[in-house]
Amino acid sequence: MRFRETQVIVLANQKGGCGKTSSTVSTAAAFADLGYDVCVVDTDPQCNATDNLGVDPDQSIREGRYTLADAYLSKVPATKIRVHPEGRFGGRLSVVPGHRALSSVSARLENEVIQYLTDENTSHLDGEDLRREHRMRLRHSIDSLRGVVDIVLIDTPPNLDFLMTSALIAADWYVVPVFPSGYDLKGLEVLTRTIEKVRNQYNPKLNLAGVLLGNYDRTTSLDRQIHEFLRNRFTPALVFGTTITRSVRYREAAMGRITIFEHPEGKEQASQYVALVREMINRGAKGAFGATINPLPDQETVRRVIGDEPTVSEVANG
Ligand SMILES: Nc1ncnc2c1ncn2[C@@H]1O[C@H](COP(=O)(O)OP(=O)(O)OP(=O)(O)O)[C@@H](O)[C@H]1O
Ligand SMILES: [Mg+2]
Repeated sequence: MRFRETQVIVLANQKGGCGKTSSTVSTAAAFADLGYDVCVVDTDPQCNATDNLGVDPDQSIREGRYTLADAYLSKVPATKIRVHPEGRFGGRLSVVPGHRALSSVSARLENEVIQYLTDENTSHLDGEDLRREHRMRLRHSIDSLRGVVDIVLIDTPPNLDFLMTSALIAADWYVVPVFPSGYDLKGLEVLTRTIEKVRNQYNPKLNLAGVLLGNYDRTTSLDRQIHEFLRNRFTPALVFGTTITRSVRYREAAMGRITIFEHPEGKEQASQYVALVREMINRGAKGAFGATINPLPDQETVRRVIGDEPTVSEVANG
């Protein structure tokens, strides 16, 4: 372990197809490539991150191993679930595999609450306590990785349900990936409100690491305008200076179940993620991540700038 403390980062945006998985996997690979110990935690029932990293959850189960569903249902610590994809990044990259059963975890836990409340010795408020404990299960599982790996990266599903909430509760930082196409600031507003609730009720230390613009084409003027708009609107401190260029290599890598770092023609793309990771390290909290050259904004600033309601036409009109 190279950091003084483990940093847990969640990639969150309830919008589908905005680069959450691609950036989770590529950022993890960048940290591992730079010599850090990294663990990817896949909370998405689609299991794209698990799949991209070459892990088959059904195979894991056949071999008697756990998946992330067991963290929620049986409180299994992440250290007991994670697997190390063989021969990759010198064993510095591990995965806590997702499973499609994650999609029913919330309903199963709610059933537990209902069962519990049928006991005449329980009150309605006991049910609330149990729900609260369920929301904390991912955090407790991931806490087992603290002091073991440098970085935990959590990939999330495209909604604000139980799984996303539990991921926000488990994290120290959140990154908001956005694509310039179909960009919807209203979505960010809802996300920010959810994060405020998580901070108030569960995780006051959750902070924004940055907004990450991916699938970016600097030759397209609208894409450039959107980047500029983001930096003006959110302040440059909130938007990563590093953008991730549009490239077919990401889909090729995903289909080949390799990371962009392992793609024979992925050098240029990989170097962008190395730049991103360096930016993250520089912007991180002093003492934990390293030196701070571009300090992170406080959450009040985040709420203020994202809480406003700019329209997409503002983007188009500059
Ligand atoms: N920089 C990029 N250039 C081109 N394509 C990209 C880039 N980044 C990601 N993609 C592709 O865009 C698609 C969506 O990306 P990704 O799966 O990472 O999004 P997501 O937010 O995880 O989606 P979901 O919400 O469904 O989980 C994928 O096919 C991915 O390969
Ligand atoms: Mg995804």
